[in-house]
Amino acid sequence: MIVAGLSGANGLDLRLSQLLNTGLIRVESKSFPDGETYIRFHGSVKGETLIIVQSLYPNQDRKLFELLLGVDTAKDLGCEEVIVVTPYLAYSRQDRRFLDGEPVSIKTVLKLLDSVGADYLITVDVHKAESLNYFYGRALNLNPTPLFAGVLQRVVREAVIIAPDQGALQKASELSQLIPNSEYVVFKKYRDRVTGKVSYEVVDVDVVGRDVVIVDDIVSTGTTVANIASYVRSKGASKTYVVCSHALFVGDALNKVVSGGVSKIYALNTVVVPEGVEAVDVAPLISEAVKNLIRS
Ligand code: R5P
Repeated sequence: MIVAGLSGANGLDLRLSQLLNTGLIRVESKSFPDGETYIRFHGSVKGETLIIVQSLYPNQDRKLFELLLGVDTAKDLGCEEVIVVTPYLAYSRQDRRFLDGEPVSIKTVLKLLDSVGADYLITVDVHKAESLNYFYGRALNLNPTPLFAGVLQRVVREAVIIAPDQGALQKASELSQLIPNSEYVVFKKYRDRVTGKVSYEVVDVDVVGRDVVIVDDIVSTGTTVANIASYVRSKGASKTYVVCSHALFVGDALNKVVSGGVSKIYALNTVVVPEGVEAVDVAPLISEAVKNLIRS
């Protein structure tokens, strides 16, 4: 078994090779002057089980194409099987045709990975687990909630855990089971599919003097968590924390979230975590999943 990281590995290739005690292949990656993508494996993958690590952000399309080149090339070079590790799987939010004429983008991404010969897929907290059924091989969706619970247990007291929408319900419920004296509530979020405008239906929960934890899979523009943070602050909450798996933090998102009244943000290192956000290492979770996959 051998590990190779592409340009979106975010150091997880090295961490995995250490945790799994395997070799690590350097992969060169560059763009030609006209923008085309080039990669090259600097080491043999012949006869190996290759773990290829690539998070699909930032620049989702480039990272995806690099990954497709990587998997296809590895198979061409005689690699026995490929385990694709995409800690952040882009396009997972477009998991259905919300409006007529739209693509189911996550289906296209997973079909592409199939077509180049990916045998297994490991990802972390994908937007909707059922989407992985579009991948023909075996796909694993890793649950980071125990990692977040471990961190939060040390800092919050009598916490109210808020899921911004139904999609985060499971996470909020699991977190509240793992954090003593906490409870969870689920807000309702509506998104206008044409304008992108988001509105909320909040649950009237008593947060006076209590810590609040907002849990979500992705923070992108920061609007979702910033709005909820402002709301709970206006209701008298003590400190507000955010835990998210994938810290995309587009543009001034971090500013927006902090101005909304969030004291501390924890995010997995599935993508590069911005300064001011505390990273929670996801490598041990992935390495355990690889070990289980190999054993089964
Ligand atoms: C959407 O349903 C996701 O789970 C997140 O809630 C969403 O991506 C957050 O986006 P933003 O940070 O732009 O509000």
